[in-house]
Amino acid sequence: MNLIGKVALITGASRGIGRACALKLAKLGADIAINCSKNKALAEEAANEIKNIGRKAIVIQADVSKQKEVELMVETTIKQLGSLDILINNAGITRDSLLLRMKEDDWIKVLETNLNSVFFTTKAASKYMIRKRQGRIINISSIIGIAGNIGQANYAASKAGIIGFSKSVAKELASRNVLVNVIAPGFIETDMTDALNKQQKEIILSSIPLKRYGKPEDVANLAAFLSSEESSYLTGQVIFVDGGMNM
Ligand SMILES: NC(=O)c1ccc[n+]([C@@H]2O[C@H](COP(=O)([O-])OP(=O)(O)OC[C@H]3O[C@@H](n4cnc5c(N)ncnc54)[C@H](OP(=O)(O)O)[C@@H]3O)[C@@H](O)[C@H]2O)c1
Repeated sequence: MNLIGKVALITGASRGIGRACALKLAKLGADIAINCSKNKALAEEAANEIKNIGRKAIVIQADVSKQKEVELMVETTIKQLGSLDILINNAGITRDSLLLRMKEDDWIKVLETNLNSVFFTTKAASKYMIRKRQGRIINISSIIGIAGNIGQANYAASKAGIIGFSKSVAKELASRNVLVNVIAPGFIETDMTDALNKQQKEIILSSIPLKRYGKPEDVANLAAFLSSEESSYLTGQVIFVDGGMNM
């Protein structure tokens, strides 16, 4: 499996799952545009790691919930790295609270960051991919988008929305050889899940058949496969990386 000559844009790649995807794809030969929102220093660190293994890397600070910033990010990737073959929509946030306490702003912010962003990036990138008659779009949803979760109505809605969106776009773009798939992680050890308390983590662990939390690299390995030639007959799929939680 190799990605030599490919260019990937990965949103939210300063840390966590996005960063692991950036490093994995670079190790397979791709040049990488690393998007971040606030943590530019971390993103630069990831870019340097990629440059040290001999690949090109650029950092693009952009808020993916803003259409104009997304359009500029896609343009910059193509201009500076010469192409855009793989888009990984990974940036995401949580603003958890029970429904009756959930503020309108918590709802809007999560939907804007997790779902509107995927519309903006996919629209901008697919224009280019359609012309090139090739492309891979990988959207990071969550097991919560299928199962729901107490305190996460906003997050679950955004992640379920990604699935419906991806299947529709997969149908629209299949004839142009642009493949769209979804990864639905379970519990992956990152800053996002570090916010949970010990008791919440223990309850989750007891519901994982493989009896361990996932690592960002577990998701990155699948993202690499979905970016590669070896997955050229897969589109519109939702694949769980969850240690067997969703069976
Ligand atoms: N961790 C899990 O267990 C898990 C499970 C299922 C699904 N997921 C999904 O996987 C994705 C990555 O999660 P993670 O755990 O790696 O999260 P994380 O460690 O919290 O990292 C989030 C990333 O998203 C970026 N980001 C946030 N808001 C942004 C915005 N408006 N514009 C651009 N970038 C933005 C952050 O950039 P800055 O560093 O600049 O803030 C950071 O790079 C998310 O979509 C999440 O919902 C995670």
